[in-house]
Amino acid sequence: MKLLEININSKITLNNGVEMPLFGLGTYALRGEPGIQAVLWALEIGYRLIDTASFYDNETEIGKAIKRCDVPREELFITTKVWYTEQGYENTLKAFNRSLNRLDIEYVDLYLVHWPVAELRNQTWKALEEIAREGNAHAIGVSNHTIRDLEELLNISETIPTVNQFETSPFLYQKQLIEYCKNKRIAVEAYSPIRKGLKFSNKLIQELSNFYNKTPAQIFIRWGLQHQIIQIPKSGNKDHLYENANVFDFELKSEDMLRLDDINENYRIIDDPHLQKKRKEAELAELELKSILSEKMQKELKK
Ligand SMILES: NC(=O)c1ccc[n+]([C@@H]2O[C@H](COP(=O)([O-])OP(=O)(O)OC[C@H]3O[C@@H](n4cnc5c(N)ncnc54)[C@H](OP(=O)(O)O)[C@@H]3O)[C@@H](O)[C@H]2O)c1
Repeated sequence: MKLLEININSKITLNNGVEMPLFGLGTYALRGEPGIQAVLWALEIGYRLIDTASFYDNETEIGKAIKRCDVPREELFITTKVWYTEQGYENTLKAFNRSLNRLDIEYVDLYLVHWPVAELRNQTWKALEEIAREGNAHAIGVSNHTIRDLEELLNISETIPTVNQFETSPFLYQKQLIEYCKNKRIAVEAYSPIRKGLKFSNKLIQELSNFYNKTPAQIFIRWGLQHQIIQIPKSGNKDHLYENANVFDFELKSEDMLRLDDINENYRIIDDPHLQKKRKEAELAELELKSILSEKMQKELKK
């Protein structure tokens, strides 16, 4: 079997010339001392890309791991993100400084707009451009952006995002969005790349796992890597950290890649928090309206 020439140190070149690892660590929910320990294990194993966000409330822990490890800063690739409630020009600049302080580093490698907020898109992006101009982020990009969001962004800006990070696995394979990004030279980064382990018992995943003598998580990650999609599986468990990084000694055959491409269910684990909030507000307004109406009806009945 011919092995693809990628390894844990493989990088892709972003559209601004910056090199980004193709494989790294997601850190959602890694907090406290166990969180620091997980990042240190990952760095020992050879992970170099660490993905955090102000929303994860763990930038301080990531900063401590960066300080404690013996990997030189320039070999690390640190990503953080501005949350949707922190957007707008001034707010984003302030949010970025808070992130930098918590991480206790001088620059981040990649700063992302965590979720699109259409009304603030222009201002938020201007702030990111300024952060990049000043050299405080080596690359800027977006997350959870649809083709429409990207079109709107490209209409107002000459700076093309370097990366779009969105949920991707064989079970959420958004071919059109991936194609669009590739055509615009926007690198695709997958979050929830092993689908939080929720589909490990799927029949095809089990079959391929047996055939290649690899675990389901490794099949998921390898599928993403072979599509040249950056993978950031999260784990706080040392064995899982090893397992997830042990994906460079086998190659999925093209027919198996196609079979995996075909199991897409278009089902998302992560929902847009912005829309969730709007939906909750709408539900509350509906409940309030119902209670006002029932009060009115009761009064009418009593008359
Ligand atoms: N931009 C965004 O909006 C966004 C949204 C979601 C996530 N993300 C980023 O993407 C990263 C990854 O996504 P995710 O955390 O949602 O999901 P994921 O990486 O697909 O799955 C993580 C889950 O799988 C478990 N796991 C990891 N390796 C395993 C293995 N080999 N065998 C069995 N279970 C395993 C982990 O538990 P253990 O810790 O016990 O191993 C954890 O519960 C996040 O951590 C975050 O950095 C970004």
